Amino acid sequence: MAGGPAAKGLFLTLEGIDGSGKSTQARRLAAALESEGLAVQRTREPGGSPGAEEIRRLLVEGPAGRWSAETELLLFTAARRDHLERTIAPALARGAVVICDRFADSTRVYQGLARGALRAETDRLHAAFIGIEPALTFVLDMDPEVALARGRARGGAEHRFEAMGSDFQHRLRAGFRALAAEFPDRCRLIDAGRDETEVAEEIAALALAALSGEAAR
Ligand code: TYD
Repeated sequence: MAGGPAAKGLFLTLEGIDGSGKSTQARRLAAALESEGLAVQRTREPGGSPGAEEIRRLLVEGPAGRWSAETELLLFTAARRDHLERTIAPALARGAVVICDRFADSTRVYQGLARGALRAETDRLHAAFIGIEPALTFVLDMDPEVALARGRARGGAEHRFEAMGSDFQHRLRAGFRALAAEFPDRCRLIDAGRDETEVAEEIAALALAALSGEAAR
Protein backbone atom coordinates (compact mmCIF):
# COMPACT_ATOMS: atom_id res chain seq x y z
CA MET A 1 0.00 0.00 0.00
CA ALA A 2 1.88 3.12 1.14
CA GLY A 3 5.28 1.93 -0.06
CA GLY A 4 4.01 1.21 -3.57
CA PRO A 5 4.63 3.22 -6.70
CA ALA A 6 1.83 5.66 -5.82
CA ALA A 7 3.67 6.81 -2.69
CA LYS A 8 5.42 10.12 -3.38
CA GLY A 9 6.68 11.11 0.06
CA LEU A 10 9.58 9.84 2.11
CA PHE A 11 9.12 7.69 5.18
CA LEU A 12 11.66 8.22 7.99
CA THR A 13 11.64 6.55 11.42
CA LEU A 14 13.50 6.95 14.71
CA GLU A 15 14.09 3.95 16.93
CA GLY A 16 15.89 3.16 20.17
CA ILE A 17 15.51 2.22 23.82
CA ASP A 18 13.25 4.11 26.22
CA GLY A 19 14.62 7.58 27.01
CA SER A 20 17.09 7.65 24.10
CA GLY A 21 15.80 11.03 22.95
CA LYS A 22 13.79 9.94 19.89
CA SER A 23 10.91 12.31 20.49
CA THR A 24 13.16 15.35 20.89
CA GLN A 25 15.11 14.35 17.80
CA ALA A 26 11.92 13.74 15.80
CA ARG A 27 10.80 17.29 16.68
CA ARG A 28 14.16 18.77 15.74
CA LEU A 29 14.29 16.85 12.46
CA ALA A 30 10.80 18.03 11.55
CA ALA A 31 11.83 21.65 12.23
CA ALA A 32 15.02 21.25 10.17
CA LEU A 33 13.15 19.82 7.17
CA GLU A 34 10.33 22.38 7.42
CA SER A 35 12.93 25.15 7.36
CA GLU A 36 14.03 23.71 3.99
CA GLY A 37 10.47 24.22 2.75
CA LEU A 38 9.44 20.57 2.92
CA ALA A 39 5.97 19.35 3.93
CA VAL A 40 6.43 17.24 7.05
CA GLN A 41 4.04 14.95 8.93
CA ARG A 42 5.43 14.10 12.37
CA THR A 43 3.79 11.16 14.08
CA ARG A 44 4.47 8.43 16.64
CA GLU A 45 3.81 4.85 17.68
CA PRO A 46 2.08 3.38 19.47
CA GLY A 47 -0.52 5.94 18.37
CA GLY A 48 -0.53 8.47 15.56
CA SER A 49 -4.25 8.18 14.74
CA PRO A 50 -7.27 8.52 17.08
CA GLY A 51 -7.92 4.76 17.22
CA ALA A 52 -4.26 3.88 17.66
CA GLU A 53 -3.93 6.45 20.47
CA GLU A 54 -6.73 4.60 22.29
CA ILE A 55 -4.84 1.33 21.89
CA ARG A 56 -1.68 3.12 23.10
CA ARG A 57 -3.17 3.70 26.53
CA LEU A 58 -3.82 -0.01 26.92
CA LEU A 59 -0.20 -0.75 26.09
CA VAL A 60 1.86 1.83 27.97
CA GLU A 61 -0.10 2.23 31.20
CA GLY A 62 -0.71 -0.23 34.02
CA PRO A 63 1.35 -3.05 35.51
CA ALA A 64 4.17 -4.68 33.54
CA GLY A 65 2.41 -8.07 33.64
CA ARG A 66 -0.84 -6.73 32.18
CA TRP A 67 -0.30 -8.35 28.74
CA SER A 68 1.74 -11.26 27.45
CA ALA A 69 4.27 -10.63 24.68
CA GLU A 70 1.86 -12.33 22.25
CA THR A 71 -1.06 -10.06 23.13
CA GLU A 72 1.21 -7.02 22.91
CA LEU A 73 2.32 -8.08 19.43
CA LEU A 74 -1.31 -8.20 18.28
CA LEU A 75 -2.22 -4.87 19.89
CA PHE A 76 0.83 -3.04 18.49
CA THR A 77 0.08 -4.46 15.03
CA ALA A 78 -3.59 -3.44 15.25
CA ALA A 79 -2.57 0.08 16.28
CA ARG A 80 -0.01 0.22 13.45
CA ARG A 81 -2.55 -0.83 10.85
CA ASP A 82 -4.91 1.98 11.85
CA HIS A 83 -2.01 4.48 11.95
CA LEU A 84 -0.90 3.36 8.47
CA GLU A 85 -4.38 3.61 6.96
CA ARG A 86 -5.33 6.94 8.48
CA THR A 87 -2.10 8.90 8.88
CA ILE A 88 1.01 7.48 7.22
CA ALA A 89 -0.35 6.35 3.83
CA PRO A 90 -2.36 9.56 3.19
CA ALA A 91 0.64 11.73 4.14
CA LEU A 92 2.98 9.81 1.82
CA ALA A 93 0.39 10.02 -0.95
CA ARG A 94 0.33 13.83 -0.50
CA GLY A 95 4.11 13.84 -0.92
CA ALA A 96 4.99 14.68 2.68
CA VAL A 97 8.08 13.57 4.56
CA VAL A 98 6.71 11.35 7.32
CA ILE A 99 8.82 11.34 10.49
CA CYS A 100 7.64 8.57 12.78
CA ASP A 101 8.84 8.11 16.38
CA ARG A 102 9.04 4.24 16.47
CA PHE A 103 7.58 1.82 13.93
CA ALA A 104 7.89 -1.90 13.13
CA ASP A 105 11.53 -2.15 14.28
CA SER A 106 10.30 -1.51 17.84
CA THR A 107 8.00 -4.53 17.55
CA ARG A 108 10.83 -6.64 16.11
CA VAL A 109 13.04 -5.76 19.08
CA TYR A 110 10.58 -5.38 22.01
CA GLN A 111 8.10 -8.18 21.26
CA GLY A 112 10.22 -10.18 18.79
CA LEU A 113 13.30 -10.41 20.96
CA ALA A 114 13.29 -8.78 24.39
CA ARG A 115 9.77 -9.64 25.65
CA GLY A 116 9.44 -13.02 23.91
CA ALA A 117 11.02 -15.01 21.10
CA LEU A 118 8.42 -13.83 18.57
CA ARG A 119 10.45 -12.50 15.68
CA ALA A 120 9.04 -14.96 13.12
CA GLU A 121 5.45 -14.17 14.16
CA THR A 122 6.26 -10.44 14.11
CA ASP A 123 7.59 -10.69 10.57
CA ARG A 124 4.56 -12.70 9.42
CA LEU A 125 2.09 -10.17 10.82
CA HIS A 126 4.10 -7.31 9.35
CA ALA A 127 4.08 -8.91 5.90
CA ALA A 128 0.33 -9.62 6.09
CA PHE A 129 -0.98 -6.33 7.52
CA ILE A 130 1.63 -3.56 7.22
CA GLY A 131 3.95 -4.34 4.34
CA ILE A 132 6.04 -1.15 4.20
CA GLU A 133 9.49 -0.25 5.51
CA PRO A 134 10.94 3.20 6.03
CA ALA A 135 13.38 4.64 3.49
CA LEU A 136 15.68 5.51 6.38
CA THR A 137 15.71 4.57 10.09
CA PHE A 138 17.78 6.39 12.71
CA VAL A 139 18.63 3.97 15.52
CA LEU A 140 19.52 6.08 18.57
CA ASP A 141 22.07 4.13 20.56
CA MET A 142 23.05 4.97 24.14
CA ASP A 143 23.78 3.60 27.63
CA PRO A 144 20.48 2.27 29.09
CA GLU A 145 21.32 3.52 32.60
CA VAL A 146 21.58 7.11 31.38
CA ALA A 147 18.45 6.70 29.23
CA LEU A 148 16.42 5.21 32.11
CA ALA A 149 17.34 8.10 34.39
CA ARG A 150 16.09 10.51 31.71
CA GLY A 151 12.83 8.59 31.40
CA ARG A 152 12.16 8.63 35.15
CA ALA A 153 12.83 12.36 35.26
CA ARG A 154 10.02 12.81 32.72
CA GLY A 155 7.22 11.64 35.06
CA GLY A 156 3.73 10.70 33.82
CA ALA A 157 1.89 7.37 33.72
CA GLU A 158 3.55 5.75 30.69
CA HIS A 159 6.09 3.60 32.44
CA ARG A 160 4.94 0.06 31.72
CA PHE A 161 7.98 -0.85 29.60
CA GLU A 162 10.49 1.16 31.64
CA ALA A 163 9.26 -0.81 34.67
CA MET A 164 10.58 -4.01 33.07
CA GLY A 165 13.99 -3.08 34.42
CA SER A 166 17.56 -2.43 33.48
CA ASP A 167 18.39 -5.95 32.12
CA PHE A 168 15.44 -5.57 29.78
CA GLN A 169 16.79 -2.22 28.50
CA HIS A 170 20.24 -3.79 27.96
CA ARG A 171 18.62 -6.57 25.88
CA LEU A 172 16.79 -3.92 23.89
CA ARG A 173 19.97 -2.00 23.18
CA ALA A 174 21.68 -5.16 21.91
CA GLY A 175 18.57 -5.94 19.84
CA PHE A 176 18.52 -2.51 18.19
CA ARG A 177 22.23 -2.72 17.40
CA ALA A 178 21.71 -6.15 15.82
CA LEU A 179 18.76 -4.82 13.84
CA ALA A 180 20.86 -1.96 12.45
CA ALA A 181 23.39 -4.56 11.31
CA GLU A 182 20.61 -6.70 9.79
CA PHE A 183 19.25 -3.82 7.68
CA PRO A 184 22.35 -1.78 6.79
CA ASP A 185 20.74 -0.22 3.70
CA ARG A 186 18.10 1.69 5.63
CA CYS A 187 19.41 1.83 9.23
CA ARG A 188 21.88 4.41 10.54
CA LEU A 189 23.24 3.80 14.05
CA ILE A 190 23.47 7.17 15.81
CA ASP A 191 25.51 7.78 18.98
CA ALA A 192 22.75 9.37 21.07
CA GLY A 193 24.89 9.84 24.18
CA ARG A 194 26.30 13.06 22.69
CA ASP A 195 25.11 16.62 22.95
CA GLU A 196 21.52 16.94 21.65
CA THR A 197 22.42 19.50 18.96
CA GLU A 198 25.26 17.37 17.61
CA VAL A 199 22.89 14.40 17.31
CA ALA A 200 20.24 16.59 15.62
CA GLU A 201 22.73 17.93 13.08
CA GLU A 202 23.92 14.44 12.13
CA ILE A 203 20.34 13.20 11.67
CA ALA A 204 19.29 16.25 9.62
CA ALA A 205 22.32 15.90 7.34
CA LEU A 206 21.57 12.20 6.73
CA ALA A 207 17.88 12.92 6.05
CA LEU A 208 18.67 15.73 3.62
CA ALA A 209 21.16 13.50 1.80
CA ALA A 210 18.45 10.82 1.47
CA LEU A 211 15.99 13.42 0.17
CA SER A 212 18.40 14.68 -2.47
CA GLY A 213 19.02 11.04 -3.49
CA GLU A 214 15.27 10.55 -3.90
CA ALA A 215 14.93 13.74 -5.93
CA ALA A 216 17.70 12.59 -8.27
CA ARG A 217 15.87 9.35 -9.13
P1 TYD B 1 7.26 5.53 23.36
O1 TYD B 1 6.12 6.43 23.55
O2 TYD B 1 8.12 5.75 22.16
O3 TYD B 1 8.12 5.53 24.68
P2 TYD B 1 9.50 6.25 25.02
O4 TYD B 1 9.28 7.72 24.76
O5 TYD B 1 9.68 5.90 26.46
O6 TYD B 1 10.56 5.67 24.17
O7 TYD B 1 6.74 4.00 23.31
C1 TYD B 1 6.04 3.44 24.39
C2 TYD B 1 6.55 2.08 24.71
O8 TYD B 1 6.05 1.11 23.81
C3 TYD B 1 8.06 1.98 24.69
O9 TYD B 1 8.48 1.46 25.94
C4 TYD B 1 8.33 0.97 23.61
C5 TYD B 1 7.07 0.18 23.48
N1 TYD B 1 6.82 -0.38 22.13
C6 TYD B 1 6.84 -1.76 21.94
O10 TYD B 1 7.09 -2.52 22.88
N2 TYD B 1 6.55 -2.28 20.71
C7 TYD B 1 6.25 -1.47 19.64
O11 TYD B 1 5.98 -1.97 18.53
C8 TYD B 1 6.24 -0.04 19.84
C9 TYD B 1 5.89 0.88 18.71
C10 TYD B 1 6.53 0.47 21.10
